[in-house]
Amino acid sequence: MKTGKVNPAALPVAIIGAQGMLGRELVAVLQSQGLPVCTLDLPEFDLTDHDHVVRRLKGITPRYVINAAAYTDVDGCEENAPIAYAINAEAVGVLAQTCRDIGAALVHYSTDYVFDGADPAGYAENAVPNPLSVYGKSKLEGERLLRQSSCRYLLIRTSWLFGPGRRDNVVEKIITRAKRDGKLKLVNDRWGKPTYAADLATKTVALMVAGDDEEGIHHLTNDTPTTGITWYEFGKEIMKLLGLDTELEACSSAEFPQKAMRPVHSLLVNTKELPLRSWREALADYLREVHPGQ
Ligand SMILES: NC(=O)c1ccc[n+]([C@@H]2O[C@H](COP(=O)([O-])OP(=O)(O)OC[C@H]3O[C@@H](n4cnc5c(N)ncnc54)[C@H](OP(=O)(O)O)[C@@H]3O)[C@@H](O)[C@H]2O)c1
Repeated sequence: MKTGKVNPAALPVAIIGAQGMLGRELVAVLQSQGLPVCTLDLPEFDLTDHDHVVRRLKGITPRYVINAAAYTDVDGCEENAPIAYAINAEAVGVLAQTCRDIGAALVHYSTDYVFDGADPAGYAENAVPNPLSVYGKSKLEGERLLRQSSCRYLLIRTSWLFGPGRRDNVVEKIITRAKRDGKLKLVNDRWGKPTYAADLATKTVALMVAGDDEEGIHHLTNDTPTTGITWYEFGKEIMKLLGLDTELEACSSAEFPQKAMRPVHSLLVNTKELPLRSWREALADYLREVHPGQ
């Protein structure tokens, strides 16, 4: 991803959604490597205000734009489809065209939810998507607009993201309920691959620095058995690591009906590079950071 400018290293990396769960980790990794960063987020920077987006990016002349912003409320997307498409699809098209025009490369994130999850063997980077939800459909449309834009891009699909940047992330939800109720039911008939936002941010920056050869679609999650793990197994590991004796009960997803349909086998298969470290190590690190001394 060379820009062809005189001193590309001096050009900033613009991070959209810099206050989000992944965005915060990206800012931390880039700053720790001494790279100039320009953070963009609501309310000052709204992806649905296309004129402002184009003007602002042209003013920054970034070397890379990282889009970590999205409408990520999966059930909310079912009720607000126009907003989901505006943020997860149309805005991505505008970003891609602008990046092409200003010679920046776009790093964009997508999701395991672009697949239907019917195949227990999982989904490689070139598998055919078939989203079940408005969220998945809007993210897939964003992918399509990105790929047809002829801008240089990294498209990173990830799944089951957790990190300290959002206090209501799935790990914290499990811990809060476990401590409050002393017992907990967790779904044991849906499989996925957890991803620690800090690990994803570090790998993203490594791919950017590696250059042109890394362009295209990547599937990045923490290393997880090929059949994935269930929320029940994830919760069991959290309880073990925190030394909580909460009574855990495995249940079916039918017991927790949700507006949006979710894939049963949410299994991104990475065929391109070394996997991130194991999900257990990543989870332990997260818990040490967020719950020190427990
Ligand atoms: N979370 C997961 O489990 C998961 C799984 C697979 C893939 N992904 C993908 O990974 C990426 C990062 O997800 P995340 O969980 O870090 O997201 P997040 O925590 O929900 O953060 C998204 C950020 O985007 C901002 N944003 C929302 N609408 C915007 C708009 N119109 N203009 C500008 N900024 C806007 C949000 O601001 P506000 O907070 O003010 O709304 C927030 O700062 C996304 O592409 C997501 O689709 C996430």
